[in-house]
Amino acid sequence: MLKHNMPKHVAIVMDGNGRWAKKRNLPRFEGHRRGVEVLKNIVQASANLKVKILTLFAFSQENWSRPKDEVDSLLVLFRKLVRQESKNLCKNNVKLNFIGDVTRFSSSLQIEIENSVKMTSENDAMLLNVAVNYSGKWDILQSVREIAAKVAKSELEPSAITTGDITANCALSGLPEPDLLIRTGGEQRLSNFLLWQIAYTELYFSNIFWPDFTASDLEKAIDFYQTRERRFGKTSEQLKRNLSITGPLALGMEA
Ligand code: IPE
Ligand code: IPE
Ligand code: MG
Repeated sequence: MLKHNMPKHVAIVMDGNGRWAKKRNLPRFEGHRRGVEVLKNIVQASANLKVKILTLFAFSQENWSRPKDEVDSLLVLFRKLVRQESKNLCKNNVKLNFIGDVTRFSSSLQIEIENSVKMTSENDAMLLNVAVNYSGKWDILQSVREIAAKVAKSELEPSAITTGDITANCALSGLPEPDLLIRTGGEQRLSNFLLWQIAYTELYFSNIFWPDFTASDLEKAIDFYQTRERRFGKTSEQLKRNLSITGPLALGMEA
């Protein structure tokens, strides 16, 4: 792994808990339970690797359509994690943030979410975004609604709307877009995770089920990232010319 070309922002679709459990004749819940342990390990590993922003897909809006007992058990695990992890995150100087429509959760869970965010708000080594009740299309929709409200109040001309306005009202606004998106569990799809924000993100798909994913698998994904040439529409020759003028750090600055 090259220290000078680390992804600043890594996003992960943590998939494969259910199949991990099924393979072992265990209930799906066991896969999720084990998945939470792996989540903690990967947060720690990312902080150790000095990744600045980690964005995890924990629960999608579509996941509400799973059997009620599975949804309930996911909510129990989620509440426990929120309650117990803030201290650990503080130890590692990690700031916690949630993206997604948290208003769908019970008010007591919303309060716990708020408290955990407050508790970690001064931390600055890494930002951890957890996507819960999130959907990429919903994210864009609610941004468009904000913009439409301004247009309705004549505060904004439709022709003056920019991509920047859409970004500014979407989740993760103000942050660099993900450099690397990892999906575990073998599926090669986005399942309505960040859509707007990953226009130029490098995609890495791993067949490993999330409960088996380790720090060394994360490093492998970063190794893959470091082999990619991020051209952002330019030619390879343009990038190399730029590199020879400004040195090896220039590639990371292309965005
Ligand atoms: C990911 O694992 C966890 C959530 C979606 C909450 P899955 O539960 O989707 O596991 P598989 O895909 O069925 O194996
Ligand atoms: C995506 O996984 C959501 C999360 C990992 C939280 P899913 O397991 O829900 O995705 P699909 O249904 O296989 O596309
Ligand atoms: Mg799945």
